[in-house]
Amino acid sequence: MTESPPMLRLEKVEVVYKKVITAIQGVSLDVQQGQIVVFLGTNGAGKTTTLRAISGFIGTDDAWVTEGRILFEGQDIANWPPQKVANRGIALVPEREKIFETLTVMDNLEASVGAGASRATRKRMIDTVFDHFPRLATAKTRLAGYLSGGERQMLAIGSALLCEPRLLLVDEMSMGLAPRLVEELLDHIVTLKKTLGLTILLVEQSAHLALGIADYGYVIENGRIVLDGTRERLGGHKDVQEFYLGQGGGDARKSYREVKQYRRSRRWYG
Ligand SMILES: Nc1ncnc2c1ncn2[C@@H]1O[C@H](COP(=O)(O)OP(=O)(O)O)[C@@H](O)[C@H]1O
Ligand SMILES: [Mg+2]
Repeated sequence: MTESPPMLRLEKVEVVYKKVITAIQGVSLDVQQGQIVVFLGTNGAGKTTTLRAISGFIGTDDAWVTEGRILFEGQDIANWPPQKVANRGIALVPEREKIFETLTVMDNLEASVGAGASRATRKRMIDTVFDHFPRLATAKTRLAGYLSGGERQMLAIGSALLCEPRLLLVDEMSMGLAPRLVEELLDHIVTLKKTLGLTILLVEQSAHLALGIADYGYVIENGRIVLDGTRERLGGHKDVQEFYLGQGGGDARKSYREVKQYRRSRRWYG
């Protein structure tokens, strides 16, 4: 294992919405520079809250980090406003409202380039996005609202890249997409890691596909991290196989915790 300090470290982070609803508690995780880290968990587990806490967007939902620290390259960025976090080098591809549907692809990208950039810089940056996603170049005059599901995700990722991040947070890009498209998007993520040297924290429902490209993973349940490990460890873990990878006849409606408790009770009493 590497001993260098992580690029991103969450230390026992707690987030409370509207001063009363505790969404995550004691969440600690590390993302090493250059890694792809996958973040797994069922609906409502706290994945989006965690990514929005890192990127500063929870503030817009009247939610705040009330305990713990969010260290980016050693600096505590908890409760910073989103623009300041973005300037520091972190971009979020959000779960919802990723693109402006009534604007063209080109105007979406233009809107994402920092206001201070010169004409030449804007062009160079947008051309880089088109190099990565040739399908966006083909569709640049189309309204974003008419893009296919996969193209929308590409536009959302492309827009995030225009903030020139070093850490990219990606929230559920595969929702509602066919597995083939999910694989294509994950291939793009791997390419971005390799060509731009990006570090990526990825929330993904397609656990088996995501684990396939991940260096490390965390499982969150009811606002708490319940398991973490390398791709090999998580992929080989019986509970993960049963509950997230749909193997071994597990009941997908049961929570990870229930599966574990069931196992324990079988072991102790069965
Ligand atoms: N805007 C909000 N106001 C109040 N509670 C919220 C809000 N957004 C999320 N939550 C709560 O935070 C918890 C975690 O939600 P979320 O982070 O969206 O989970 P996930 O992304 O894993 O599905 C849930 O219990 C949810 O009800
Ligand atoms: Mg979510």
